Amino acid sequence: MRILSGIQPSGRPHVGNYFGALRQYITLQAGNEPFYFIASYHALTAVQDAPLLREYTVGVALDFLALGLDPQHAALFAQQDVPEVTELAWILSCVTPMGLLERAVSYKDKVAQGLIPNHGLFAYPVLQAADILVYLSDLVPVGQDQKQHLEMTRDIAGKFNQQFGEVFVIPEPYILDSTAVVPGIDGRKMSKSYGNEIGIFDEGSALKKKVMSIVTDSAPVEAPKDPAESTPFLLLSMIASEEETAEWEARYKAGGMGYGEVKKRLLELIDGYFAPFRERRRELEKDPAYVLDVLREGGMRARAVAQQVMRRVREATGLPTTY
Ligand code: ADP
Ligand code: TRP
Repeated sequence: MRILSGIQPSGRPHVGNYFGALRQYITLQAGNEPFYFIASYHALTAVQDAPLLREYTVGVALDFLALGLDPQHAALFAQQDVPEVTELAWILSCVTPMGLLERAVSYKDKVAQGLIPNHGLFAYPVLQAADILVYLSDLVPVGQDQKQHLEMTRDIAGKFNQQFGEVFVIPEPYILDSTAVVPGIDGRKMSKSYGNEIGIFDEGSALKKKVMSIVTDSAPVEAPKDPAESTPFLLLSMIASEEETAEWEARYKAGGMGYGEVKKRLLELIDGYFAPFRERRRELEKDPAYVLDVLREGGMRARAVAQQVMRRVREATGLPTTY
C-alpha cells in the first residue's frame, strides 16, 4: 500500500504531532511504500521569511530521521522538489466547488487566530488534495484535525474522476482514536498556534517547567478525581504501560493522590521516552550534508511518480504537452 503524509515546517514538532501522527508514520513504514514530505508550500501561507522557512524545512527532515524514518525505504522529501503538485492543484481547483472550500473549518480557525487570509490559505485544501492524489496514495495517516481535509480530498478526487475518467485512487484516512486529540499544557488541543505544546525534543529545565505547569483543577489531595478529565493522566496514558496506567487510574479514583505526584512521574516518562530520539537528532545534526542528500534522493523518487501521474492527468483533461 502506498502511505503518504506531510507536516508543515512551521515550527518544532510537539508531543501531539508525535502521538497523533508522526508515530504512525514510523509504524506504517514496514510492509508498505511510504512517502513522507515536508509541506513547505503549505507553510508559506504563514511563514514568509526565507531563512526561517529553510531552517524549519531542514529541521523537520532531521526530526523525521531522528524519530526513526528509514530513508532507504521511505521517500522523505520537500514539497517544492515536486513542483507538479502545484500544477495539479490548479487543475483540481477547476473541479472544486467554492462551497466546499467555504466550509473548511481549518481556514476559519486560522483566520480567527489572526492569520492574514491570503488566497493560499483559502486554497490550502486543494493543494493538500494534490499532494495526496499525485502519488495515487492509498492511506494517509493524520491527526483528527485533518479529517475534513481528507474528506475534501476524497470529494475532489471523485469529482475529477467523474468528469475526466478514473485517474485517481480515492484515499483512506488513517486516524487513531486513542490519540486523536492530544491535550496541551492548558488542557486545549496541543498546538503550535496555542503556545501550549511540549516539544518532542524539549529537555532539562525547559521540559520540567512545561510538565509542572500543566493546568489541573483545584481538587484537594484527598478528593477522588476523574482521570478522563485530567491532562496529566491523558498524557501519561499515552506513554506508560497498560498496567501502570491502570494503577494511576485507580489512584485518581480513590483520592489521596496529588497532581504534583502524577506530574513528576509524567516528566520521567516523557524524558525517558524521547531521550533516544534527542540523542539521535544530536548525531544527525553533525552531518548537514547527509540530510540534504536524503531529501534530494527522496525528492527524485517522488517526482518520478508524480511526473507519470501528471502525464495521465494532462491526457485526461485535454492538456497534453505539445513538445
Ligand atoms: P499544529 O496544530 O501544532 O500546527 P500541525 O497542523 O502541524 O500541528 O499538525 C501536524 C500533524 O499532527 C497533523 O496530522 C495533525 O493532525 C497532528 N496533530 C497536531 N496536533 C495534534 C494533537 N494535539 N493531537 C493529535 N494530533 C495532532
Ligand atoms: N495540512 C496538514 C497539516 O497541517 C499538512 C499536509 C499538507 C498534509 N499536505 C498533506 C497532510 C497531505 C497529509 C497529506 O498537518
